[in-house]
Formats: sequence, structure tokens, C-alpha cells
Amino acid sequence: MRSIPDVTLNDGQTMPQLGFGCWSLSQEETTPAILSAFKLGYRLIDGAFIYGNEAQMGEALRASGLNRDEVFLTTKVWNADHGSAKTRASVERSLKTIGVDQLNLVLIHWPAPMKDLYVETWQTLIDLKKEGLIRSIGVSNFNADHLERIIDETGEVPVLNQIEINPGLQQNALRAACAAKGVVVQAWTPLGKGRSFDAAPIRDAAERSGKSPAQVILRWHMQLGNATIPRSANPARQADNLNIFDFELTADEMAAIATLDEGFRTGPDPSVFGAD
Ligand SMILES: NC(=O)c1ccc[n+]([C@@H]2O[C@H](COP(=O)([O-])OP(=O)(O)OC[C@H]3O[C@@H](n4cnc5c(N)ncnc54)[C@H](OP(=O)(O)O)[C@@H]3O)[C@@H](O)[C@H]2O)c1
Repeated sequence: MRSIPDVTLNDGQTMPQLGFGCWSLSQEETTPAILSAFKLGYRLIDGAFIYGNEAQMGEALRASGLNRDEVFLTTKVWNADHGSAKTRASVERSLKTIGVDQLNLVLIHWPAPMKDLYVETWQTLIDLKKEGLIRSIGVSNFNADHLERIIDETGEVPVLNQIEINPGLQQNALRAACAAKGVVVQAWTPLGKGRSFDAAPIRDAAERSGKSPAQVILRWHMQLGNATIPRSANPARQADNLNIFDFELTADEMAAIATLDEGFRTGPDPSVFGAD
């Protein structure tokens, strides 16, 4: 198995292009799932306060025997914690719960535009980075207008925007807007809940390359230049999801997968989500 490539963020830090997502893993599943991911070679763990398993992220890190500087830890500030004081408290709580002195990356989980506090929340992350509690700061589920506003009002460009992308929701306009600003795009729900596993372009590329539909989709993300964070509680699937660096999709296969975009979100719409 070849190693996971790094991407360089606009603040000079590096991050593995492929990491391990922790959403919806129960507290009981989380530590063993991350430990097996570490054994297989994953080094980026994507968590969030709202996932309820930050303590298990820390537990897995300590049990793994890996040094802190070998692992890239991401967490997120939830919608209820927007605003200066709450954001600061949220980051301090995450540090304590995970049991580390510094987080590699903290994201605003959703812009929650109806609260109109995401600029203040962003400014607080800028301050916490200056204080050394966070190494890199970014956003999640930001549309182009949200991105533009935080950049215009603070002058600080996020390193990354974590957004839903899968073959059924390719987000080409938002991906281009992020690229134009030097913001890495990291795909959540990269497998799209399996909705396109049986689609001909995926099935044909899987047959041709001797890979599974999930591997074809993750390879598609890599070739588009997306970072991504697939989740599996199953060690065999964790291994499959990493085993995508020894083959390439052809230009024709990439073009055929591009036709699967139907603009269908499996998750919420960022322009209206996040009132609570
Ligand atoms: N920022 C946000 O708002 C946001 C929102 C959603 C998710 N995320 C992040 O993105 C991560 C990934 O998204 P996700 O967890 O929704 O979905 P995902 O990684 O696209 O898919 C996970 C599902 O696919 C199955 N699966 C995994 N590998 C597979 C394979 N090789 N073959 C067949 N099935 C496979 C898993 O089942 P098994 O466990 O049974 O293998 C699980 O049911 C999350 O864990 C979280 O860290 C962020």
C-alpha cells in the first residue's frame, strides 16, 4: 500500500489528503476504530464537539503509541457555540476533552447565517491561533458568499472548507471558488451513502481496475484534488479506503463520473441550516 500524499495548506502546514472521519461512531466504537485506522496508516482524524466522541479521539491517540506530532487532529465549533466567548470556551473544552495542548485544525462547523455570528466566530479562531491553541483554522459548509465575507472582514483566508461532495453532489462552482482563494476542499460524506455505487461509470471503472465502487469514488476525489475523510468502523473497509494509491482513473472514466452530478444533497443546506 502506497503512503497517503500530503497537501500543503495556505499557512504552510501540511495535512494528509486522506483521513479518517468520526461522525456517528458510538463512544464504544470510536477508540477501536481509530486504533485500527492508525495501524493501517491513517494519520488524520476528523472529529467535532457535536460527535460526542472527542474523549475517545484522545484515548486512541494515547493508546496508539504515536507521537503527537505524527497525528493531525481536527475538531469543529458547533452552531450553539458561535460568538466570541462561546467559541473560545468550545475550543478550550475540546483541548481538555481530547487531552492535547494544541489542535492541528479547528473548523467552524456550519456558517449558520441566520445567527449572523460566523464572522465573530472566525475572528475568535484567528485569536486562538495567534495564542497557539490551534495551528490552522478553517471552515465547513461555507458557501462562496460566506467565505468571501470572512475574508473581506478579517483579511484571514481559511486553510480549508469541509463540504459535502460525492458523485451525486460535485460542487464544481464552490470547488472553483475555494481554489481561486487557495482554500483546500475536503469532502465529507465522500461515498454519498452508496447512492452511486451501482451507477454504470462507477461500476465500469471498478470492473476495469479490479477495485470496489467505494475505492473508485475515493480515487475520483484524489484525482480531482479533493482532500477527504471516509469513515468506517470496519477494519477491512478502512484498509480498502486507503488502498487507492496504486491505480488511476482514466480521463474518460473521470468524464463519465462527472455526468453523475445531480446536485443532490444527502445532508442539510448550509444556507438555511444551524438555527440551534
Ligand atoms: N462538516 C460536516 O458537516 C460533516 C458532515 C458529515 C460528515 N462529516 C465528516 O465526514 C466524515 C465522512 O462522512 P460520513 O461518515 O457521513 O460518510 P462516508 O465516509 O461517505 O460513508 C460512511 C458509510 O459508508 C460505509 N463505508 C465506508 N467505507 C466503505 C466501503 N469501502 N465500502 C462500502 N461501504 C463503506 C460505512 O459503513 P461501515 O462503517 O459499516 O463500513 C458508513 O456507513 C464523517 O465521519 C465526518 O468526520 C462532516
